[in-house]
Amino acid sequence: MEQRFVYMDYNATTPLREEVKARMIEDLDIYANASSMHEAGRRARDRVEMARKQVAALIGAKDPSTIIFTSGGSESNNTVFTTMYELGRNAERRKIITTAIEHPCVLNAARHLADEGFPVVFLGVDGQGRIDLSELERELDPARSSGGASLLVSVMAANNEIGTVQDLAAISRLAKAAGALLHTDAVQAAGKLPIDVEAWGVDYLTLSCHKIYGPKGIGALYMRRGTKAEPLIRGGHQELGIRAGTYNNQGILGFGYAAELALRDQGAFEMRLRALRSRLRDGILAAVPDVRVNGHPTHVLPNTLNVSFPGAEGEAILLSLDLEGIEVSTGSACASGSLEPSHVLMATGVGPELAHGSIRFSLGRGSSEEDVDYVIEKLAPAIKRLRRMSTIPSSACRA
Ligand SMILES: Cc1ncc(COP(=O)(O)O)c(C=O)c1O
Repeated sequence: MEQRFVYMDYNATTPLREEVKARMIEDLDIYANASSMHEAGRRARDRVEMARKQVAALIGAKDPSTIIFTSGGSESNNTVFTTMYELGRNAERRKIITTAIEHPCVLNAARHLADEGFPVVFLGVDGQGRIDLSELERELDPARSSGGASLLVSVMAANNEIGTVQDLAAISRLAKAAGALLHTDAVQAAGKLPIDVEAWGVDYLTLSCHKIYGPKGIGALYMRRGTKAEPLIRGGHQELGIRAGTYNNQGILGFGYAAELALRDQGAFEMRLRALRSRLRDGILAAVPDVRVNGHPTHVLPNTLNVSFPGAEGEAILLSLDLEGIEVSTGSACASGSLEPSHVLMATGVGPELAHGSIRFSLGRGSSEEDVDYVIEKLAPAIKRLRRMSTIPSSACRA
C-alpha cells in the first residue's frame, strides 16, 4: 500500500500556495531595481507598492507606508529591540516588559538589552499560557515595581507552540496608560485570526511571509506613523532608510499575493481549521488514555493543538509518526543536541517530564478530516508501545 503523507507542522512553515507560486513565476522577470528612475524601475516600484498595500490590508493598517519590508519575523523583532536600545540607552524611560513564552528571537533580543544594563522583565503566564494583566499593570507602575518607567511592552499575539492568544486590546490599554510603546509578534496570528492594528492599538507589529503560504526570507514590520525605528542594515534609502538593500522584488510581490489571499480566506479558513482541530483533539482524547491538552481551551489558534503524553518521549513519538509519514514537531530540542524542555510549556507550569512528552500538531490549508483520522489511528498504538518501553531507560534521546 502506498505510504500516506500528512504534514502537520504548519506553524514551523507553510508550503507555497499554488496561486502565489503561479503569480511569482509570472513575475520572475520583474528584474528592474525598484529604486531606479527609468520606466522598468518605476514599474517594479509600482508592484512593490501594491504589495505594501496588500500587506497593510491584512493587518488593518490604513496607511501602507507604515509597512517596512524585512527578511522575516526574526529581523522585524530584532529591529524593534535595536530601536529600544537607541531610544532607551540614555533615557530614564528604559524598562522593557516582555513574556517568558516569546519566540527565541524576542527572548534573545530582550536578554541582550538586559546584558546592556536595561531593566527587562519576562512576565510569567498562567497554566493556559496567558499573561496576568494585573501583573503587567504592576510592572508598568514605577511606584509598585523596580526598573523605572517602561519604554516597551512586547507580547506575542499568539504562541507558536501552544497556540494561546493574548488579549492585545487590554494589554494595549495598560501600556498606553503608562506611556509605553507596544509591540506584538503576530507571526503566528496572521492569516489565522483577524488582525486590526487600530483595535489592538499596537505601535509595532511583526509579520513573516512563510507562515502564510508565501515565500521564505521576506517579512514585514508595521510601525505606527510617528514611531521611530533604528536600522539593523544601513545603506541606501530603501524602506525610509530603516532597511537598506535592493528590493527583493520576487519575495515582496509573493508576500503581497499571499497576504491578499490570507485576508480573503481568513474567516472560512479559521472555521474549517477549528473544526479539524476539535476533531483531532477529541479523537486523541478518545483513543489515548492519560493525555494533557496544553494551551488555552478557547483563546487558541484555530490550527494548533499541543498535547502531552506522559510516559512517552516527544522525540520518540515524533520519530514513530515520521515512520508513518506524519510530520509534527516537539517542544524539546533533542535533535539539536540539547535536552532543554520547551520554555513555553515550562512557563505554563508543565513539569520537565510532561514537557518532554509533548507534541505540537499544527494544521493548515492542506489538512483534511482523513489526515486527522490517520494521525489518530497511528498515534494511539505508537503511544501504547512507547509507554510500554518507557521503563527501559534507553530512548534515542537519553543515549
Ligand atoms: C512567533 C514567531 N515569531 C518569529 C518567528 C521567526 O520568523 P522568521 O522565520 O520569519 O524569522 C517565528 C518562526 O518560527 C515564530 O513562530
